[in-house]
Amino acid sequence: MIFTRSKTSTLAAIAACASTLLVNAQEQSAVAPEDSFVVKLNDETFKPFLQENDLLLAEFFAPWCGHCKTLAPHYVEAAKILHEEYEIPIAQIDCTENQELCMEQGVKGYPTLKIFKKNGEVVSDYQGQRTKDSIIQYMIKQALPAVSEFTNTSSLNEFMERQKDNVIIAQYNAVEGVLNETFYDIAETLRDEYVFINYKEETDGESAGNVSVITPKQDPIAFTEDLTGLPQNETVVKLSDFIAVESKPYFGEIDGSSYEHYMNAELPLAYFFYSSVEERSEYEPLFSQLGKKYRGVLNFAGLDASKYGKHAENLNMKEQFPLLAIHEITTNFKFGDEQLPDDEFDAEETKIVLDPKSVEKFVEAYVAGELKPILKSEEIPSVQETNVTKIVGKTHDEIRYDTEKDVLIKYYAPWCGHCKKMAPIYETLADIYALDEDANSKLVIGNIDGTLNDVFDIEITGYPTLALYPAGDLTKEPIIYQGSRTLESFLDFVKENGAYGIDGAKILEEHKPIEEEEEEDEEFEEEEEEEVPEQDEL
Ligand SMILES: *[C@@H]1O[C@H](CO)[C@@H](O)[C@H](O)[C@H]1NC(C)=O
Ligand SMILES: *[C@@H]1O[C@H](CO)[C@@H](O)[C@H](O)[C@H]1NC(C)=O
Ligand SMILES: *[C@@H]1O[C@H](CO)[C@@H](O)[C@H](O)[C@H]1NC(C)=O
Ligand SMILES: *[C@@H]1O[C@H](CO)[C@@H](O)[C@H](O)[C@H]1NC(C)=O
Ligand SMILES: *[C@@H]1O[C@H](CO)[C@@H](O)[C@H](O)[C@H]1NC(C)=O
Repeated sequence: MIFTRSKTSTLAAIAACASTLLVNAQEQSAVAPEDSFVVKLNDETFKPFLQENDLLLAEFFAPWCGHCKTLAPHYVEAAKILHEEYEIPIAQIDCTENQELCMEQGVKGYPTLKIFKKNGEVVSDYQGQRTKDSIIQYMIKQALPAVSEFTNTSSLNEFMERQKDNVIIAQYNAVEGVLNETFYDIAETLRDEYVFINYKEETDGESAGNVSVITPKQDPIAFTEDLTGLPQNETVVKLSDFIAVESKPYFGEIDGSSYEHYMNAELPLAYFFYSSVEERSEYEPLFSQLGKKYRGVLNFAGLDASKYGKHAENLNMKEQFPLLAIHEITTNFKFGDEQLPDDEFDAEETKIVLDPKSVEKFVEAYVAGELKPILKSEEIPSVQETNVTKIVGKTHDEIRYDTEKDVLIKYYAPWCGHCKKMAPIYETLADIYALDEDANSKLVIGNIDGTLNDVFDIEITGYPTLALYPAGDLTKEPIIYQGSRTLESFLDFVKENGAYGIDGAKILEEHKPIEEEEEEDEEFEEEEEEEVPEQDEL
């Protein structure tokens, strides 16, 4: 994927992978069975039910909807556990039969999952994965107060046992002050992501408190920074950052539900693509150790290549596993080691081994800023076939940053209809400037396929995007074309915004008459030739 600063494309891709995984080959009904714990609500029963319950998860669905069918078994299982162990109700509303209610709730797609609290006064969208475990964990968190408070170890331990799959942010023996305040503030905003607990033994007033992050797989880690004297907004940033970093395991796992967490952490992410559980275990000690060493600098996570192997492409790498690649999220640069040429790699036969020493070296070199990012790029063309210069990832910056030239670049995608429509006009534009030697030496009219080439420092929000980089301007900030896609308008744009003010319309004028004159000359000659025989006859 091109164009850099946006994270959505890859995220969407991996989220899509995750949801297709859940598709069950068996055709199943979207409607929960009558004997399940899913409560069926309708126009009449919905409001009274809300009044009776402080918390409700409701699915608005249509019986024909595929994603609703996929969700159904997860939903039924979650309903059973939430009902039996936590007394949290979950419900279904068939929108084909209860259109009024669904409209009132602003349902635009199926399934829509919403959480209702306090007799429906607080409504939020369900934001977890559509799996049994996610639904259960998410709803347990919703049922808790922002901070659960404990005053003895027996009740604390019992609670912790039930929460063992969640990341817990615990405050022990709080003392009055900025840390305690910040802790309670953050709990309000991050309660959907983590479980917050406050533990204070009634007898113990002496010992200094701490805020610790407790993850399922690692020892608790306490926040040690002194917040005294900092303004409130900065204490919130400091403690939130700490939680964001420490809540990740040293060597985590990327899937549909954790991907966003990693992207939001904004630290570079080192992916380890593995082909089997055994392979993951084999490398786990190495990556855990590196994860610990580079805590707060670089996150490490495994990715199951049998499910998400295609993601390698997003990192500009080939699907040759096992594989290590680093994605620098803030710049969108990708880093990886040299891979085998396609003809030397066979998914069945070739055995790739990552040597721990070289892995460590690679990571060290990355952290030291010694590595060059891998650029996605087509091959540099050996000949230019038209007057529109074909630009690729590898040549883009060199051409763009040529300070001697005005450079106009069209960023396009092969599937884009508007791009196809403007292609001949763009060719004509280039042909016009090619008529004039001076213009030709000062102006580049180029294009680049945005789907096959990475470019940096320009945000492309749609195709085609047309950007002019004027000569002389060392920063080469793009001037984005906004006008209608006509030849006249393009010619004006280049004249107005280019450093040389090259006037294509004038070039066209200058060359047109000559062509016409030449034609007239030919006609004249023909007439002459015709006249010759006449003369001959004379
Ligand atoms: C522990 O605290 C809970 C409430 O937080 C209380 O119900 C329980 O009786 C306490 N147990 C002991 C042993 O003090
Ligand atoms: C910590 O903050 C909470 C919420 O504002 C408050 O209820 C509690 O008394 C505070 N604890 C201490 C020890 O100050
Ligand atoms: C945090 O405080 C609790 C209670 O005082 C203590 O048991 C725990 O070891 C402390 N954790 C760290 C990492 O300092
Ligand atoms: C906190 O607020 C102050 C003043 O309102 C502002 O100057 C500062 O940049 C803020 N700090 C952060 C980390 O947002
Ligand atoms: C480039 O432009 C010139 C001048 O308009 C034209 O004669 C030539 O055919 C064009 N070249 C190609 C490959 O289209």
